[in-house]
Amino acid sequence: MLGGLLLLQTTFAMAQQKPDRAVYDLVPTPVSMIRKPGFFQMTDAVRIAAPAALKDAAMLLAGALHLPEQNKMILSGTVHGRGVIHLALRKDPTLGSEGYHLSVSPTGIQITGSNREGVIHGLFTLVQLQEIQTDENRIPCLKISDTPRFTYRGMHLDVSRHFFPVSFIKKFIDVMALYKFNTFHWHLTDGAGWRLQIKKYPLLTLEGAWRTRKNLSEWWKSDRHYSRQGAPDAYGGYYTTRQAKEVVKYAAQRGITVIPEIEMPAHSEEVLACYPELSCSGKPYKNAEFCIGNDSTFTFLEDVLTEVMRIFPSKYIHIGGDEASKTSWKTCPKDQALMKRLGLKNGAELQSYFVNRIGKFLHAHGRKLLGWDEILEGGTLAPGATVMSWRGEAGGIAATRQGHDVVMTPGAYCYFDHYQSDPNTQPYAIGGYTPLSKVYGYDPVPADSLSPAEQNRIIGVQANLWTEYMPTTEQVEYMAFPRMLALSEVAWTAPHRKNFDDFHRRLQSQYLLLQRHNVNYYRPSYRVHISALPDDKKKENLVSFSTEQYQPVIRYTTNGSTPDRKSPVYTKPFYVKGRTTVKAIIFKDGLPMDSVRVFTANYHKAIGKKITYNNGGWSSSYPAAGASTLTDGITGGLTYQDKKWQGFLHDIDVTVDMGGVTTLNSLSIRFMQLKGPGVYMPGSVTVLLSDDGKNFKATGAVQNDISPKDSRLLFKTFTFDLKGKSARFIRVKAPNVQDGFMFTDEIMVN
Ligand code: ACM
Repeated sequence: MLGGLLLLQTTFAMAQQKPDRAVYDLVPTPVSMIRKPGFFQMTDAVRIAAPAALKDAAMLLAGALHLPEQNKMILSGTVHGRGVIHLALRKDPTLGSEGYHLSVSPTGIQITGSNREGVIHGLFTLVQLQEIQTDENRIPCLKISDTPRFTYRGMHLDVSRHFFPVSFIKKFIDVMALYKFNTFHWHLTDGAGWRLQIKKYPLLTLEGAWRTRKNLSEWWKSDRHYSRQGAPDAYGGYYTTRQAKEVVKYAAQRGITVIPEIEMPAHSEEVLACYPELSCSGKPYKNAEFCIGNDSTFTFLEDVLTEVMRIFPSKYIHIGGDEASKTSWKTCPKDQALMKRLGLKNGAELQSYFVNRIGKFLHAHGRKLLGWDEILEGGTLAPGATVMSWRGEAGGIAATRQGHDVVMTPGAYCYFDHYQSDPNTQPYAIGGYTPLSKVYGYDPVPADSLSPAEQNRIIGVQANLWTEYMPTTEQVEYMAFPRMLALSEVAWTAPHRKNFDDFHRRLQSQYLLLQRHNVNYYRPSYRVHISALPDDKKKENLVSFSTEQYQPVIRYTTNGSTPDRKSPVYTKPFYVKGRTTVKAIIFKDGLPMDSVRVFTANYHKAIGKKITYNNGGWSSSYPAAGASTLTDGITGGLTYQDKKWQGFLHDIDVTVDMGGVTTLNSLSIRFMQLKGPGVYMPGSVTVLLSDDGKNFKATGAVQNDISPKDSRLLFKTFTFDLKGKSARFIRVKAPNVQDGFMFTDEIMVN
């Protein structure tokens, strides 16, 4: 039996491999690609010909293609013969500053660019093309011409919350280069640990780089003390000046600029524990913000930035600027004196003064200030400063209107610390829900809001890897991949050439590359998500399935039975009447791949009925579809941010007008709980009925039984048996008892 099964699987595997098939599934997709017949054969005799100006690119390519050491590079212009890869610089105005041509024929390969950056991108296209072939020795023939959409294509990595060694940073840069990212934003400092050697301030890495607990949440809940390098309890690490320079050089060879981030004036607990005289209290473990009224703060920061600029040649230096609590400045005599002297009215203006002063310092040294969107607050941001818009796109939009360049990195699309799949199936993460398709669908240019000139100030896009819940390099890779591939296409490819289905198809070939690089990418789930869209005209629900799999075989039933290998295969959305239970599951090679998913599509009696909010409306931050939300037949998904869940900060008290006295069977209303961002169940739900809208009669209450301490993503449906009852008006009350948000999506009346 076992032998038979193994044999069967082997047959399948062999059938799928098809070693001769040429694979063209590049990510990001090139601007133009013409497929040609035949292959270029990689052998030990393959040589690289390049001019002296491209010597390092030739070396890089030789390494990436694993050419034998003894293969001498031919450093000259014209070389003839078979099996030669030519790299060349050739001015071509159609290529912009980073474009390239790549031509693969059976006899040779040509990569040309107007400059080194272009050649590097062409070279990595070739390497990627090789690494997605089943047989790496056969590179399919083609002709590519390619240029990027954006000049800034970034990935951020937080090495403060958890420290990762240089070997991993290099691996991360290797894979970034394969997907044509050109900027590595290195978040080197934060309260959880300082990660860069600064020769003038040795305590930063002697103490500030080492905390007393590995687990960040435990450390955060404890006294948040730092340890000392070499102490038994010390957890952390830092990059020496030499190591950081090595990373800069390594990245530059691969066409990537490293931008260091040194956080100020907030997120600086570790600095102020080591040098408490720079804080308002003057004491360690009291403040997270520098004292701005103390000139020593500027001496310190300028010293640090001077050393940073010696290590990092990048045009931009990122100074953080996010999430400053202005509390300590309010009562600090030094800050108050400075504000009085400069006529600053509040903490925001004080922060703006600070940012502009640091910006001037950087400018005087030939650099530009880059910061999170808070740097816009409290006054006019100095010309030349560039803004990273993370709290949505609003900061970015405002900044372009003020003439600043902008990198878009809004939380809902670009925070790869968010969940990428159903949170209940995933390692604990910070929250949110940002699956691959959502990342892919992002367009960094909000064209409707901006003039063409303003649109041009959006120089690019970046995703951020905040590592609070990524203690290992494996976990960083898990959160980064494959979402980084989706972002690579957001950053490189013009919007009209993007297509998620095609990207998803190409991704199937890219897994091989990620496997070859031993990247611990997130493997797509076999879960089926079932959703229903009410159709007003037909008075039925249109049911559709989605999954993370590419073209899966989904079998389903609508009669309550369990789908099996003979059940119908899903091909397109279908209608169901009234209240219908839909069950679905993916089969692969004849075997079920997950537990059966069950969903009740409910074209219920309250759909389209008018609803009155007796107690004020919903929270303006989470309106969903406004007054129609709770009776529109649309149910919410895995996140309260999907615009299907309506949010409430107070008690819910609503009345549905059924339009006439209606015979009732049941009522249900669903809530979500997610403790992290403060989303809770109501204390209870009560349903009251009335024929005249004045005199209501309670039918009973259902108590909440979910603990507010439970930190999982939870859903609870409160159900009421209304058999034998009738009413025109149905009032639903749900008290808010946790001083947080409540979210509900639909009041279903049957
Ligand atoms: C940030 O996520 N605090 C920039």
